[in-house]
Amino acid sequence: MLQVKNLATSFEIEGRWFQVLKGVSFEVAQGQTLGIIGESGSGKSVTSLSLMRLIPKPWGRIDSGEVWLEGRELLSLSPQAFRLVRGREMAMVFQDPMTSLNPVLTIGAQLQESLAWKAGANGDQRRTLAENLLREVGITDPAQRLESYPHELSGGMKQRVMIAMAIAAEPKLLIADEPTTALDVTIQAQILALLKELQQKHKMALILITHDLGVVSQTCNQVAVMYGGTLVEKAPTRTLFANPRHPYSFGLIKSIQSLTWPQGNRLYTIPGQVPGLGQFGSGCVFVGRCDRAQERCKTQVPPMTQTAPEREVACFYPLGGQT
Ligand SMILES: Nc1ncnc2c1ncn2[C@@H]1O[C@H](COP(=O)(O)OP(=O)(O)O)[C@@H](O)[C@H]1O
Ligand SMILES: [Mg+2]
Repeated sequence: MLQVKNLATSFEIEGRWFQVLKGVSFEVAQGQTLGIIGESGSGKSVTSLSLMRLIPKPWGRIDSGEVWLEGRELLSLSPQAFRLVRGREMAMVFQDPMTSLNPVLTIGAQLQESLAWKAGANGDQRRTLAENLLREVGITDPAQRLESYPHELSGGMKQRVMIAMAIAAEPKLLIADEPTTALDVTIQAQILALLKELQQKHKMALILITHDLGVVSQTCNQVAVMYGGTLVEKAPTRTLFANPRHPYSFGLIKSIQSLTWPQGNRLYTIPGQVPGLGQFGSGCVFVGRCDRAQERCKTQVPPMTQTAPEREVACFYPLGGQT
């Protein structure tokens, strides 16, 4: 359903352009969930904003790449043509529902705005549609809730409303960028369950961006591991967790496992920090923190290489394993 090829995006900072996404490629099939994981600053949000063509101008730009949604290339569409795609064929749920809802409009008014595409529907019909949407995302008393303002709702309810707005047009692809990070732990699980349920019901492709590996293991079919603006590994979720091959994936998974089973173990963290923009050399993005790095890792970028069906790793010296 979705094919992303060699997507590259840059930002200008103090007169210099830095490439923040360095040629990212992945695919998501209908009804499947791709998780994108990686430390803060690795380029996950820039990936989702690039797909939605929401990179802020003039200090940001998509340099190159292709985004195919059901056989149509989206980056070459005119802004006018793309407006019919964004919010309709592909929609996004952001991290912070507090800042994404308009505080001075009722929930009903905002929901009906996202139903504006329903040509021919009159006010009453839209109201019914809005009520049905709220019911679908698990909000009780939907008729009454349409009259509420965002501040009258809890964080979890607001995120449910955001999800309702995102699915209003029945998109083929839903991108959720850290959709539960701002919520309490108990609410997080409910929102994830809701996303999963809606995805299966509507047969959407879902991209779930998160730094929470527990969330990934529960919800994603495939995982892409991101670091320094590139993908370093792609694999089916179980395979990745059982047998990470890129040293960065290995470190990420080891650090989460040491959180879950701390008995007798020190908390593991990957040594070093994500380099700042412009601090990456000409070689592998991970070379500065990698304990397996050899001389050529400093000067050559390891290409993404298929090691098994549905499995790709970008490393000259991947960890052991036949897959
Ligand atoms: N609007 C922007 N202007 C300049 N740099 C940006 C902008 N947005 C993101 N970046 C840079 O792009 C990199 C990736 O950021 P981001 O995609 O937000 O990371 P993640 O979502 O994985 O935490 C970071 O180094 C960040 O500083
Ligand atoms: Mg982000």
